[in-house]
Amino acid sequence: MKERRLKLIPMQFSASKQPYWRWVFLLVFPLLLSSSFSDPRISNAGLLCGHSRPPNGTNLIPNFSEAMRGLSQAINNSHFASYHLNSTSPMYVLAQCHQDLSQTDCLLCYAAARTTLPRCLPSVSGRIFLDGCFLRYDNYSFYQESVSSSLDNVSCSPDEATVFDGDSKRVNLIGRSVDYAVGNMTRIALRNGGFGTVGMNGVYALAQCWKSVPAEGCRECLEKAAKAVRGCVPKEEGRGMNTGCYLRYSTNKFYSKEGEAKHDHEIAIIVAIVSSIAAFLMVSLSAAYATYARLSKRKEELKNLGQISKSFDKSGLKFKYETLEKATDYFSFSRKLGQGGTGSVFMGILPNGKTVAVKRLIYNTRQWVDDFFNEVNLISRIQHKNLVKLLGCSIEGPESLLVYEYVPNKSLDQFIFDEKKTNLVKWKQRFDIIVGTAEGLAHLHGGGSHVRLIHRDIKSSNVLLDENLNPKIADFGLVRCLATDKSHLSTGVAGTLGYMAPEYLVRGQLTEKADVYSFGVLALEIVCGKRNTTFTKDSGSLLQTVWALYRSNRLAEAVDYSIKDDTSAKEAPDVLQIGLLCTQASVSLRPSMAQVVQMLTDKDCEIPSPNQPPFLNASVLDPTSSTRSNSTDSFTTNAVRKIQDSGTSSEPSRTLSSDEASRSQ
Ligand SMILES: *[C@@H]1O[C@H](CO)[C@@H](O)[C@H](O)[C@H]1NC(C)=O
Ligand SMILES: *[C@@H]1O[C@H](CO)[C@@H](O)[C@H](O)[C@H]1NC(C)=O
Ligand SMILES: *[C@@H]1O[C@H](CO)[C@@H](O)[C@H](O)[C@H]1NC(C)=O
Ligand SMILES: *[C@@H]1O[C@H](CO)[C@@H](O)[C@H](O)[C@H]1NC(C)=O
Ligand SMILES: *[C@@H]1O[C@H](CO)[C@@H](O)[C@H](O)[C@H]1NC(C)=O
Ligand SMILES: *[C@@H]1O[C@H](CO)[C@@H](O)[C@H](O)[C@H]1NC(C)=O
Ligand SMILES: *[C@@H]1O[C@H](CO)[C@@H](O)[C@H](O)[C@H]1NC(C)=O
Repeated sequence: MKERRLKLIPMQFSASKQPYWRWVFLLVFPLLLSSSFSDPRISNAGLLCGHSRPPNGTNLIPNFSEAMRGLSQAINNSHFASYHLNSTSPMYVLAQCHQDLSQTDCLLCYAAARTTLPRCLPSVSGRIFLDGCFLRYDNYSFYQESVSSSLDNVSCSPDEATVFDGDSKRVNLIGRSVDYAVGNMTRIALRNGGFGTVGMNGVYALAQCWKSVPAEGCRECLEKAAKAVRGCVPKEEGRGMNTGCYLRYSTNKFYSKEGEAKHDHEIAIIVAIVSSIAAFLMVSLSAAYATYARLSKRKEELKNLGQISKSFDKSGLKFKYETLEKATDYFSFSRKLGQGGTGSVFMGILPNGKTVAVKRLIYNTRQWVDDFFNEVNLISRIQHKNLVKLLGCSIEGPESLLVYEYVPNKSLDQFIFDEKKTNLVKWKQRFDIIVGTAEGLAHLHGGGSHVRLIHRDIKSSNVLLDENLNPKIADFGLVRCLATDKSHLSTGVAGTLGYMAPEYLVRGQLTEKADVYSFGVLALEIVCGKRNTTFTKDSGSLLQTVWALYRSNRLAEAVDYSIKDDTSAKEAPDVLQIGLLCTQASVSLRPSMAQVVQMLTDKDCEIPSPNQPPFLNASVLDPTSSTRSNSTDSFTTNAVRKIQDSGTSSEPSRTLSSDEASRSQ
């Protein structure tokens, strides 16, 4: 994550009036820091899904998302977390990051694992091994398990280590080094709370037992893994992925520095004393050099920036960082409007008196300035009364900012789910909000403009209301840019559980119909005045409730209590029926947004009957059936096949790349 290092440079020089040693420390500090920000190691997933399914009619998704929510909170400030739900279909989850990852990298790795694991649903169990972390769910308490005769696995890299080329002595030497390294691993890890690293003769190894596995289990697990990965020699890498631990060797150094320092304190101390002076000199020199190199790189970047900015200046989309800083009262907390997945939003008042919303992105966009400008340029040209307008951006300051039109009345969720305010939103207004949102989305999907965008995160908090309660969809676009940046993963799933279409949630398959699904959920929420995410014990999700009422011809009962007496609410059941149409499990059965707009606005338009329960069941998730139902859409099929082919070694970023593919069509 080079952008973080870049960000540190201005700090160093503002502090350069400090005494000399401090200055040196500030030079060295980013180097140390950069090693801990090294790499969340989200690659090389081993995804293992269990074969047993829950009893017919059980939907595991609410329990799964509930358990993941609990886990996310617990992993926040630790490298290990477990969580369980005690219900008729219990759910136990465990997450473990490797000890050498920084907390930030741990969260990134967890987010990546969390995005991929739902592909195991509706199996009752699944586990995923990434190179930096592990995540598992099951329907029983497995926390102390260490080995399994059927599920433990080993994976060897396809390539032989290059050093082996034609030199049989060297093969033996490296083979022996692997033996020694992994042979010593168990001892090192057990002495060090279940984590250890070794590097000898060009072979590096790392072992991690899950914190909940007792020492004896850890020993057994690592010994089994060590034996298994020895079978990988002379491949350049081997990974043992067992129920209670992970062990990897490689001829490339893959773990971060602190990890190595931990295991052999004795040696580390001696080495430190003997070479401290030399090291100090070396570090100072290399730090100075690195800083010099980075400064020249930054100069280069600024030059590039200058060229791009020139054409950008003319477009009127460029804002000065200082202007926006002042406009938001230096990002004062009192100006904060909200926090989204990609950054926090502040209210700003420009020097000309105009009020805007300024979004402070959580990542830096310098790495892909070109893409960013192009995307901003593209998005800013999308104009529709129901879409929040992007006014421009700032990229030259220490962080990247986006400037949006300011929408005064906060977001829809704060109206329809807040009992004090629901009375303010009568049926007529709710209906207009639904129609406006549908029109905005239809426009995004390509109606009336040459740009075709998938929003991916339609939900009540992304629909803003202006002073006349007109809806405006926020937070669209810029997705392709963001997807190229790894840190985008920190937002976890791009989308919100409860609103996410099943095919997108489970397989990362993304089309406009995923937005249609989310819109359907939103429409049901607006009419019923209830959140879909609240799973109550007896009634199931809002979708299930409405579906059940529809089946028994009692749709009117689902309508929000506070608008029931509203005599104009005759269309409410029709809107519910449209919502059900949009949330059908099969992608091809859902209408397009243009059709939805027509059904909503044209009184003579016949609304078809939804004919599929709007929630997941095993048959919909069955790859063969879904491929069949999508065969009209060759892109979708390809994306699905790609994901399925990737099988156990699928990368979490697949979700994002399938999106890119669809966007670039
Ligand atoms: C876990 O799920 C399987 C398959 O549905 C079932 O046979 C088993 O009894 C479940 N275990 C527990 C503890 O619920
Ligand atoms: C569950 O449903 C599938 C098909 O829908 C059926 O083949 C199977 O027999 C059912 N299993 C049970 C236990 O009812
Ligand atoms: C995670 O921890 C940070 C600080 O430790 C805190 O500010 C934040 O609210 C926590 N987030 C969650 C979801 O618990
Ligand atoms: C789960 O609930 C059952 C029945 O309510 C109870 O017997 C059991 O002890 C609970 N288990 C845990 C781990 O809380
Ligand atoms: C290990 O994983 C590979 C690839 O997924 C699979 O083909 C193999 O059967 C697995 N081995 C065991 C022992 O489960
Ligand atoms: C541990 O490493 C040493 C060499 O550093 C080697 O002599 C010894 O045999 C190794 N132990 C095991 C159990 O492989
Ligand atoms: C988990 O699923 C079971 C059965 O589907 C349900 O009864 C229970 O309420 C769910 N628990 C949660 C917390 O959603």
